[in-house]
Amino acid sequence: MIKFTVDISECVSCGSCVAICPIKILELDAEKHPKAIEGREEYCINCGHCACVCPKGALSLESMPIDELKELPEGWRLSPKEIEPFFKGRRSIRAYKEDLVEKPVIEKIIDIARYAPSGINRQSVYWAVVHDPKKVQELSGLTMEWVKTFINEKSPIAESLRFEGLVKSWESGEDPICRHAPHVAMVYGLKEDMLAHAACTIAMAHFELVALPFGLGACWAGYLQMALSAYAPARKSAGLSSKITCHGAMLFGRPKYEFNCIPSRNDPRIIWR
Ligand SMILES: Cc1cc2nc3c(=O)[nH]c(=O)nc-3n(C[C@H](O)[C@H](O)[C@H](O)COP(=O)(O)O)c2cc1C
Repeated sequence: MIKFTVDISECVSCGSCVAICPIKILELDAEKHPKAIEGREEYCINCGHCACVCPKGALSLESMPIDELKELPEGWRLSPKEIEPFFKGRRSIRAYKEDLVEKPVIEKIIDIARYAPSGINRQSVYWAVVHDPKKVQELSGLTMEWVKTFINEKSPIAESLRFEGLVKSWESGEDPICRHAPHVAMVYGLKEDMLAHAACTIAMAHFELVALPFGLGACWAGYLQMALSAYAPARKSAGLSSKITCHGAMLFGRPKYEFNCIPSRNDPRIIWR
């Protein structure tokens, strides 16, 4: 249920709060001030757009009082010149320094990444961070156990996902699963939440990018994520209950090497209709 107040002395009756509401919950009353349309209040998704678009800060939601909201600083939009090398320069990092990343730094990254979009603003994403490198290694080992079950069963999946190669690499002392990363971040949602998958994937994509300015690097851990979905011992080790689905796992830490160039990628496939 939407609960908001309007400071009539500040409201300029511009109607921007009404226009921006994605659920069309608001209308202007006879005095041209916003009010909730009867019967629609319950559909409020608490996105805060109405309060944040008001040029005068006249609309305040009970759930996010206007004087507690952070103002966007001037020049917060980065320029195309800035974002192009930032986005194109991001690389999957598979070699890490041993030193640990401080928990407050990780908390800050997640604090920023949690502003990623989520279906119906449900903010369905839960985070788990494996901070102990020994625990990360345990997850690699359990993923290898899971991989070997496919090889033993002569499953076509083993060939398609190159499981033999993983085993060879693991047995030679390498870690093809978690790449000897010091940490793993996981995103998960409630099993019945149909919106969690997209929200978690997007939040994790943000995490990977947000980590860069903190001097960190990251890499999606696809094999680990599959094991966390399907293999009970790996799920247990990661502390995932039967009520949740892990939608993403990301290795991260301080990169051992720096990249100097941007690799080529396929041309964009765009069809204009
Ligand atoms: C869903 C997903 C799963 C991935 N899983 C792994 C993985 O298990 N191990 C790995 O080394 N890289 C993994 N990657 C990283 C890709 O291999 C990498 O993005 C790709 O090679 C392009 O390199 P770049 O990210 O540096 O541009 C994964 C990427 C995605 C999107």
